[in-house]
Amino acid sequence: MDIQKKIVMSGIRPTGFLHLGNYFGAMKNYVQMQDDHECYFMVADWHSLTTHPDTKALKENVHRVLAENIACGLDPDKVALYCQSHVYETAELYLYLNMLAYKGELEKTTTFKDKVRLQPDNVNAGLLTYPVLQTADIILHRASYVPVGKDQEQHLEMARNFVQRFNHRYGEVFPEPVAFNFGGALVKVPSLDGTGKMSKSENQNATIYLADSDELIRKKVMKAQTDSGPTASGMPKPEYIENLFLLMKLVSAPDVVKQFESDYDQCTIRYGDMKKQLASDMALFIAPIREKAEAIRHDQRYLREVMEKGAEKARKSAQQTIAIVRESMGLNYF
Ligand code: TRP
Repeated sequence: MDIQKKIVMSGIRPTGFLHLGNYFGAMKNYVQMQDDHECYFMVADWHSLTTHPDTKALKENVHRVLAENIACGLDPDKVALYCQSHVYETAELYLYLNMLAYKGELEKTTTFKDKVRLQPDNVNAGLLTYPVLQTADIILHRASYVPVGKDQEQHLEMARNFVQRFNHRYGEVFPEPVAFNFGGALVKVPSLDGTGKMSKSENQNATIYLADSDELIRKKVMKAQTDSGPTASGMPKPEYIENLFLLMKLVSAPDVVKQFESDYDQCTIRYGDMKKQLASDMALFIAPIREKAEAIRHDQRYLREVMEKGAEKARKSAQQTIAIVRESMGLNYF
């Protein structure tokens, strides 16, 4: 891989199904970055063990995430697409970083506190040190850019703290990683029920998954909340209507959106027609991804090749970093 290129790293946990929010928040960015950056994209299977100790569905989920990423346009020849558990060097770096992470700051992490609330009977140490493992994933490749959604900002801030401590104690080894989004602002992909955003596990009826059939997409979109329409020109849109327009801008042609905007302004908008249009454009958008992912998912030989090739690229970069880390930490006894 080209050393001049900026290094990019990101991960997706194999828990639940990928949806339009993942597509526009993460995968679309990955695809846009793959030509002029050195990219490492990983399936975070170890991270999933902190919340999903039952591994019955793990293999299938890992395969699905890989297949969906490739179906969205990620090219395993251009990027390193791999599984976290195939790159053992991650565990070594995680161990070193654990000595630089303090219990107090880990306990204060928002995602940790959320998960303690969600699974009070399984507050394991892996959950506590989740941000440490994530930092290891990133700096294992000495990556500078991390394409992630807004919910990961705190983890990135912690990663920068751990990097600063490491560099301060053992020498300037790592760049400080920053969250990155291609178009600048983070895109909002609202859920269909007018509140919040699309989600891997909650709100399934208001989330459009990349694996949803045309029929299911239509059903979910047609159920979205509307009202009897604006009664005066220039009326502001209620949030649930604004969200339909936001979604339409993501998947429909600009002149289609413009037509409905103007219908809204003139109070002639028919929300039934708008939802039918939105459903049909979403289905057109998702169908090719779904079909491609489905084909890849069942091609075990191809998936194995992808994982092997990805692990090889990732481990090459990881081993270089680990050699530098050991040297700078004084763990070189020969
Ligand atoms: N914590 C991330 C999430 O829940 C997933 C993840 C694991 C990740 N390792 C990473 C993201 C490294 C970016 C970089 O979405």
